[in-house]
Amino acid sequence: ELNGYAHFMEKEIFEQPAALENSMRGRFSEDGSTAKFGGLNLGPVDFRQIDRFAFLGCGTAWHSCLVAEHLIERFARVPVEVDYASEFRYRNAPLSGNPLFFVMSQSGETIDTLGALREAQRKGYKVLAINNTVGSTIAREADGGIYQHVGPEIGVASTKAFTSQLLIGAMLALHVARMRDMSFADGVEYVNALKSAPNLVRKALEQAGHIKAIAQRLAKYNDMLFLGRLSLFPIALEGALKLKEISYIHAEGYPAAEMKHGPIALINELCPSVFFAPKGEIFNKVVSSMQEVKARKGPVIAIITEGCELPEGLADEVITIPDCHEAVLPIVATIPVQLLSYYIAVARDCDVDKPRNLAKSVTVE
Ligand code: M6R
Repeated sequence: ELNGYAHFMEKEIFEQPAALENSMRGRFSEDGSTAKFGGLNLGPVDFRQIDRFAFLGCGTAWHSCLVAEHLIERFARVPVEVDYASEFRYRNAPLSGNPLFFVMSQSGETIDTLGALREAQRKGYKVLAINNTVGSTIAREADGGIYQHVGPEIGVASTKAFTSQLLIGAMLALHVARMRDMSFADGVEYVNALKSAPNLVRKALEQAGHIKAIAQRLAKYNDMLFLGRLSLFPIALEGALKLKEISYIHAEGYPAAEMKHGPIALINELCPSVFFAPKGEIFNKVVSSMQEVKARKGPVIAIITEGCELPEGLADEVITIPDCHEAVLPIVATIPVQLLSYYIAVARDCDVDKPRNLAKSVTVE
């Protein structure tokens, strides 16, 4: 079943190009300018009335909700709120307007997410599910939804289910954007970018050997920071979660500019920082944050866009990712941090597929 891989997590990381193909299959319009979903149970006129989205999930799924928020607000200009499912169900949040709820859950059995779904439905809202398990409790109770179609995920640390959720969030942003302001031409460009995602992920995976060598050098540390901005802030959270889950290294994710408001106190030669610094408007800002870490002797691991350069001597380790459309960037940027946490955990001799204290689906409160 492992097909020559050492662990399910490794297999599932390398399966991602195919998994993304499966999540996209049959989901673009014939004119190639938008995404379509069969199971929303919501016609275009109803969909047009939605003035706000609410996304709920736990753990890694909550991170994919945060990326969906970024892309929907950025491209469709519709406000989105994200909440931990476990908090939403008891928070009694005031809701106004005409929101549409999405619950995000790979397993479809997470009890907190199910509780949040029931609470939203009790209040009279329609709840759709983004889910990987056909026939799961959440899939059955939701008012419709989108299946991820990535096949079973065995490793406790979510990998291919996460990037597939990022892809579906990006497709949803496109779907909503094309019903509002996005032009046909921008839609076609967006669709082509999504179609290129599997190949870009394949390219990012080619860095595996290089990342393994870096991981061996990082495996001795006990604290690490992950720093990213905009759509890569949630990927920083995901990198930190992945690392702590499987290697038991204490790790935190922050927006890079937040560092100076507290976490910078942790920086010294024993606390490396992984920075996402893709090319674009905030590249220089991220570089300044790296300089602040370097000035305090913190080891810097920089994830940058292929072809870009950093000031001489700033980064101790550099990992590149291929240049890509904004909608695909979170997916591509996830690959190096999955590989990094996987190889660090292997170097520390941890039980990668079955980390201590964790279950694949959390069916208790
Ligand atoms: O099955 P779900 O997507 O509802 O699971 C939610 C979380 O329990 C899950 O993502 C958890 O954080 C993973 N272990 C992350 O790797």
